[in-house]
Amino acid sequence: MRIIVCENYESLSKKAAQIVGSQIILKPNSILGLATGSTPVGMYKNLIKMYEEGLIDFAKVKTFNLDEYYKLPVDNIQSYHYFMDENFFNHVNIPRENIHIPDGLASDIENECISYDESINNSGGIDIQVLGIGNNAHIGFNEPTINFNKGTHVVTLDESTREANARFFNSLDEVPTKAVTMGIGSIFKSKKILLLASGKNKAKAIYDTVHGQVTPQVPSSILLLHHDVIMILDKEASSLLNEDDYESVNDYEKVK
Ligand code: F6R
Repeated sequence: MRIIVCENYESLSKKAAQIVGSQIILKPNSILGLATGSTPVGMYKNLIKMYEEGLIDFAKVKTFNLDEYYKLPVDNIQSYHYFMDENFFNHVNIPRENIHIPDGLASDIENECISYDESINNSGGIDIQVLGIGNNAHIGFNEPTINFNKGTHVVTLDESTREANARFFNSLDEVPTKAVTMGIGSIFKSKKILLLASGKNKAKAIYDTVHGQVTPQVPSSILLLHHDVIMILDKEASSLLNEDDYESVNDYEKVK
C-alpha cells in the first residue's frame, strides 16, 4: 500500500485526477470504478478540466459506479445517478452506453446484482477503482459486519452512515435505509485501487485501515492485502498516522 499525504483537499484532488488521467492516457479504453460522496468531487472537477484542455479523451472509457440507493428514483437529486451526471458525466465525453450504475429500482434486484458483477467481468475487469471511505471504514456501502461480502448485493445502511449522509437530504427520515453496493470481492478484483480521504472525521478509519487487523468489522482493512493500493489523504485524514507511514506531498507545485 502506498500512502500519499497532500497538503490539503485541493492538492489531493489534483493528485487523484492525475493518477486517473494518466491511466486513461496510457490505456484509452480503461475501465474505471467510480465513487460518489463529497470526497471525489474535486477529482472530478480536475478530470473535467483535463478533458476540456484536451489532455484526456473519454470516448473509449467504460465506467462502473460502486453503489446506488435502493428504491430511490434516478431523477431524485440525491440519487447517485443524478450525482454522477451533475458532477461528471454531463461534462465529459463518456458514451452513455459505457456508463454503469447499479439499478436500485430493478424489479429483480438479485438478478440485477449478479448481472452487474457479470458486466464488470465481461468488460475485462476494473483497471482503477476510486474509493472514498466512511467514518466507520465502509468502502462502497460495505458496512462493518461479520464477514466480507463478495459480490454486488443489497445492504442495510448503518445508522451512522444514514446520519453522515443526512447532510444531503432535508431530514434523516428521507435518507434511504438500504443501498445496492459492489461487494468487497467485486472491489478487490480491481487491478488498481485509489482510496481518497479528507478531513479529521476520516482519521480513525484511516488509522484502523493501515494499522489494524484485517477484519470485516473494518471493511477497508481488506485493502492491506491488495497488491496495488494508493491512498491519497489530506493532512487531517492522515493525522493519526506516524510520519514514517507515508510519503508527503507538501508543496502544491510538486503535484503540478
Ligand atoms: C460512495 C461510497 C461511499 C463514500 C463514503 C464517503 O459511492 O461508496 O463509500 O465514499 O461514504 O463519503 P464522503 O466522501 O461523502 O465522505
